[in-house]
Amino acid sequence: ASEYSLRPKRLSEYIGQMKIKEELKIYIEAAKMRSEPLDHVLLFGPPGLGKTTLANIISNEMGVGIRITSGPAIERAGDLAAILTNLQENDILFIDEIHRLNRSVEEILYPAMEDFELDIIIGKGPSARSLRLDLPHFTLIGATTRAGLMTSPLRDRFGVIMRLEFYSVEELSEIIKRSSAILNIGINDEAAYELGRRSRGTPRIANRLLKRVRDFAQVKGNGFIDFHIAKDALDMLGVDDMGLEHIDRKMLKSIIEKFSGGPVGIDTIAASIGEESDTIEDVYEPYLMQIGFLNRTPRGRIATKLAYEYLNYSLPE
Ligand code: ADE
Repeated sequence: ASEYSLRPKRLSEYIGQMKIKEELKIYIEAAKMRSEPLDHVLLFGPPGLGKTTLANIISNEMGVGIRITSGPAIERAGDLAAILTNLQENDILFIDEIHRLNRSVEEILYPAMEDFELDIIIGKGPSARSLRLDLPHFTLIGATTRAGLMTSPLRDRFGVIMRLEFYSVEELSEIIKRSSAILNIGINDEAAYELGRRSRGTPRIANRLLKRVRDFAQVKGNGFIDFHIAKDALDMLGVDDMGLEHIDRKMLKSIIEKFSGGPVGIDTIAASIGEESDTIEDVYEPYLMQIGFLNRTPRGRIATKLAYEYLNYSLPE
């Protein structure tokens, strides 16, 4: 079974994000009763929590087609115009990393979202003409890691704005058991829980770790994943008790050792550990803040008392 088949296809198979599921179910049912497309939906939250999966589920539940693209892939206004004019009535257009659309492309999107109209300019100079075309009705689903990265005119045109939350350990162990069943992997509850505990609240990480632990179980054991196999494999992978990996610990240690625990600016941290600031902000920080190891202040990042204790540093005066 491929990565793709691990993704749930229906809302009823989707584990976690209770509030989002409950809301979506109502909006989908109402739109279907009216035979209208769903209102435009903005999904935001850290990577790996299921934004793309939800977009596909919405298309399945609505019974409409979906066209998948991303902000950086749409380089020119004409690229977006081509996509929009080729949609079928009520289709979904999914734009991942929608905050990375460039301005001229974004401006095409405003009348398209609001009135299902496309304004195009044909020709140049004094003979240029502006043309207005009717578009098929469609639902735009936008995904971004942080809603704050988007311009407000774009954000304001979404009727439904939903924030994905980190998953609980229980939800993650359920996802791991579901994936194990699909992939034909033997695993017990204790091992699934241990994997869930170390997956940083993120299904994509849970499924990745499951596959690596399966490899370990095949070579070092009899293929079955029990608690000890799971624990030994995760230790070997450098995934610690809180699910932190080498890079997370490196970042916290750098803040503590080189900058006396902070506050220190994100770009300074990035330079000191050799990572991109954006990657730190989108991928590493959200979970470290969630578990209370890192705080963001106007003057920079601070390692918390919990982080000091976890990494065995004595607290500063
Ligand atoms: N696989 C990845 N994410 C999932 C989810 N939220 N529910 C069920 N299976 C998943």
